[in-house]
Amino acid sequence: METNSPARASWSGKWAFILAAAASAVGLGNMWRFPYLAAKYGGGTFLLTYLVLVFTFGVSLLLLETALGRKTGQSAIGAFKSFGKKYAFIGVLASAVPFIITPYYCIIGGWVTKYTAAYLVNGPEALADGGDFFSGFITSSFESYIWMLVFMAVVFVVVALGVKGGIEKANLFMMPALIVMAVGIALYTLTMPGAIDGALYYLTPDFSKFSPELVIGALGQMFYSLSLAMGIMITYGSYMRKQDNLTSSVARIGCFDLGVSFIAGLLIVSAAFVAMGSGEAVATKAGPSLMFITLPTVFVDMGGMATIIGFLFFLLVLFAALTSAISLTETLVSIVQDGLKCTRGKALGIVIAFVVIAGALVNAGYNGLSFIEPLGEGSSLLDLADFFSNSVLMPIVALLTCVFVGWIIKPQAIIDEVRVSSKFSMAGSWTVMIKYVAPVLVVIILVAYVAAQFGFFSM
Ligand code: PHE
Repeated sequence: METNSPARASWSGKWAFILAAAASAVGLGNMWRFPYLAAKYGGGTFLLTYLVLVFTFGVSLLLLETALGRKTGQSAIGAFKSFGKKYAFIGVLASAVPFIITPYYCIIGGWVTKYTAAYLVNGPEALADGGDFFSGFITSSFESYIWMLVFMAVVFVVVALGVKGGIEKANLFMMPALIVMAVGIALYTLTMPGAIDGALYYLTPDFSKFSPELVIGALGQMFYSLSLAMGIMITYGSYMRKQDNLTSSVARIGCFDLGVSFIAGLLIVSAAFVAMGSGEAVATKAGPSLMFITLPTVFVDMGGMATIIGFLFFLLVLFAALTSAISLTETLVSIVQDGLKCTRGKALGIVIAFVVIAGALVNAGYNGLSFIEPLGEGSSLLDLADFFSNSVLMPIVALLTCVFVGWIIKPQAIIDEVRVSSKFSMAGSWTVMIKYVAPVLVVIILVAYVAAQFGFFSM
């Protein structure tokens, strides 16, 4: 830890870092967004495109961010600032992303917590009522806020216990449990009549569905899923030791994230197929309704197994959401701590106050403030936060980061850092990626997302 001051947290080793980065990556994005996109864009075609993107573009950016963090020993703002005061704004923009995401992520985390408990308390029939249970709950204001606080309390306790004592231990328990549950439920779901057709739909490439929208959708998903362009990987890199191999670590993180997305897709698309009978029908149920309304109607048909499968499914999603929320919160703590030069405890206090208040505001978007429809009819404050962070800020940050490394500090600075701990035989193609390919792809996502939001074309 040559470059780090003793007060900074650090991982206990390479595997702790890989697990933490994977835990950050594997989240709600894998559990409901990936399956829905795969269903929408012709199953296997989307899977193949996503695979190629993760192992070219995705891991290149992961490597860039972790190396930048390790080189400077700072979280995002400090990392950019160490090359000159005028670059600090890139770090500021990157740091804004987790501030926007965390409150709404915790709200959805609260919904998942409620559903996990409801399988045991209300039973599977109560949840499979075509959506009334869900809409009644999210508009309940007080109740949904309480469940958000329950979810957050777990997150805060883990973060308060520190990087080694809290985060590493929580990941060590939740990540393997998550994988075992995902595989188990996927296998069980495949025994349901009609599920195999869903699995075939999911796995067979339909190349007629290949389109620019598919690539843009896959790119956006990859950013969010790998937790790129928001300073998280810079912070995590700053907790790494100089001897830990960066190239193999980022490749493993990519595999982990892709693997969990793949299994989640298999499970959810197959299950939703049982209820809806075609891939196109599944694709129409985007976002919350797929997970909170459609799946409960599939689970209830499992008879005696309904309670246990429903409970385990939401527990699985809960673990995925918790590990990501922990990662988001840790990043906030690290930003506040570095920014205010205060103790970790004080930084955590500030972060808790922020998330509790901002969460209340976003939560009110479904009840007291539901008259605010920022992105058109039926949209909520949560949708606005999601759009602004994922579709606007993240591509901008990614673009600035690539330009910064590719053209200002020059790729060699990062290549040298990577080579401190391992060979980097792909340095040449990585450089081309960062200088040319990535900036162009990112501009395309940015323009496409914003254009789609304002109705210029549909995605
Ligand atoms: N990657 C997480 C997911 O797929 C979301 C996330 C975003 C987590 C940002 C941490 C930071 O759900």
